[in-house]
Amino acid sequence: MTERVEVPDLRGRVALVTGGGRGLGAATALALAEAGADVALLGRSEPHLATVAGAVRQRGRHAAWAVADVALWEAVRDSVAEISDALGPVDILINNAAVEGVTSHLETLDPDEWAAELAINLNGPFYCARATIGSMRERGWGRVLNVTSGAAIRPLPGKAAYSVSKAGLDQLTRALAAELAGSGVAAIAVSPGMLDTGMQARLRGSPAPEMELFRQAHSAGMLRPPEEAAALLRWLCGPHGDDYSGQIVSLHAPDIRARAGLPALAR
Ligand SMILES: NC(=O)c1ccc[n+]([C@@H]2O[C@H](COP(=O)([O-])OP(=O)(O)OC[C@H]3O[C@@H](n4cnc5c(N)ncnc54)[C@H](OP(=O)(O)O)[C@@H]3O)[C@@H](O)[C@H]2O)c1
Repeated sequence: MTERVEVPDLRGRVALVTGGGRGLGAATALALAEAGADVALLGRSEPHLATVAGAVRQRGRHAAWAVADVALWEAVRDSVAEISDALGPVDILINNAAVEGVTSHLETLDPDEWAAELAINLNGPFYCARATIGSMRERGWGRVLNVTSGAAIRPLPGKAAYSVSKAGLDQLTRALAAELAGSGVAAIAVSPGMLDTGMQARLRGSPAPEMELFRQAHSAGMLRPPEEAAALLRWLCGPHGDDYSGQIVSLHAPDIRARAGLPALAR
């Protein structure tokens, strides 16, 4: 399904994938390793990170991992320093870690839940970019790829904090691109649509009536494999990524699918 997607030569590059222990993050870590990148993983669950690091090494690349919560600036800063000592400075940042949060209408949403979700999904990507873009700029090349969601533009009742965090991430992407213009560092947001991962399983497993659309999408076979979104993220790490800095790229958009070599989707 992704065989026709051009694979950039990422030998000599160091990638940092947040949430790289499972789901889309794990698929992306392996895709980048297959293109020659050394890969660092950052997440909270050490066994998952260790497993994916082993799979990166099986592909002949160096791997490192750091156990950290992206919502904590000092933890991110120290983890990036450890990773840079182990593998070299980060060239590619995949801001993938996120949570879908609790399901609650705003009228009853616990303010602490709101703050926690924004801290992971929006502050986290800023902290990771803050810790890595200086060295990318110094070396005149880099990629910051932020994994966003259609929820950024289509709010779902009960999931406002998630929607707002992803809308903020889209604007963070544009702000990064504007500030990094001309530096050789591209910042791009990728909206993957519904992926067959643990996040979707939890959404459709929720008894909340608003989550019915996820149950229907699953029954209708609408979920895409995470490997397909990973192939697009990897493709954007190549020279074509320069054309998309500051843009929100959808995995479902026919033009990007055609250009990247992904098969057209049935309408
Ligand atoms: N699945 C979908 O349908 C879908 C649709 C649109 C957008 N997305 C986006 O795609 C990305 C990946 O989602 P997924 O489906 O792969 O989700 P997932 O299977 O739930 O994986 C989420 C990852 O994020 C990590 N993570 C969560 N909170 C963290 C924290 N505080 N600090 C560090 N790492 C943290 C998790 O690792 P630990 O638990 O080890 O920390 C895990 O590796 C997310 O940005 C999501 O919003 C997904």
